[in-house]
Amino acid sequence: MRLRDAGWRDLAGIAELEARCFPVDPWSPATFWAELAGRPRRSYVVAVDDVGELAGYAGLDLSGDLADVMTIAVDPARRGSGLGARLLEELHTRAGAGGAAAVMLEVRADNGPARGLYAAHGYRVLRTRPGYYRSADGTPAVDALVLRKELP
Ligand SMILES: CC(C)(COP(=O)(O)OP(=O)(O)OC[C@H]1O[C@@H](n2cnc3c(N)ncnc32)[C@H](O)[C@@H]1OP(=O)(O)O)[C@@H](O)C(=O)NCCC(=O)NCCS
Repeated sequence: MRLRDAGWRDLAGIAELEARCFPVDPWSPATFWAELAGRPRRSYVVAVDDVGELAGYAGLDLSGDLADVMTIAVDPARRGSGLGARLLEELHTRAGAGGAAAVMLEVRADNGPARGLYAAHGYRVLRTRPGYYRSADGTPAVDALVLRKELP
């Protein structure tokens, strides 16, 4: 598995994986287009296997002292083998190289795997946004947690 910069040719694969990784409220292809158009402030990485198949992706917003993790996702069939950690560590490397002293992100309070990943990488809960994630179908709203990690 190899990590490399995301480019325009990855858009279709990213959008397809996004739909499988975020069945509720996936980002549209147009959103990813705008994210890539926002480079170099935005920085996206993809994980590609030996036959060139997309296995995961992650994106960062670099804004001076502070960087934000915009998104991170791993193909459901390839989870649990360290790829999410590799992608997140690559974002940390890019954030540090871009001059950031800390990284922030938002996560749904009910997203156990993502919370586990972030906790294992030194993120601490900064604040909670109660009921931030609302759905149209009447299911209860879910809190957003704002997390922060200081970079070494
Ligand atoms: C979150 C996600 C990227 C993790 O990817 P992954 O490749 O499975 O993660 P890794 O195998 O690198 O796991 C790294 C660490 O995360 C934590 N973790 C991963 N899966 C977990 C789970 N199901 N439950 C609890 N902790 C988990 C563990 O601490 C793990 O370290 P360990 O293997 O040493 O125990 C993946 O589950 C995903 O794509 N989810 C859907 C998209 C998403 O929710 N993105 C985050 C939005 S904020």
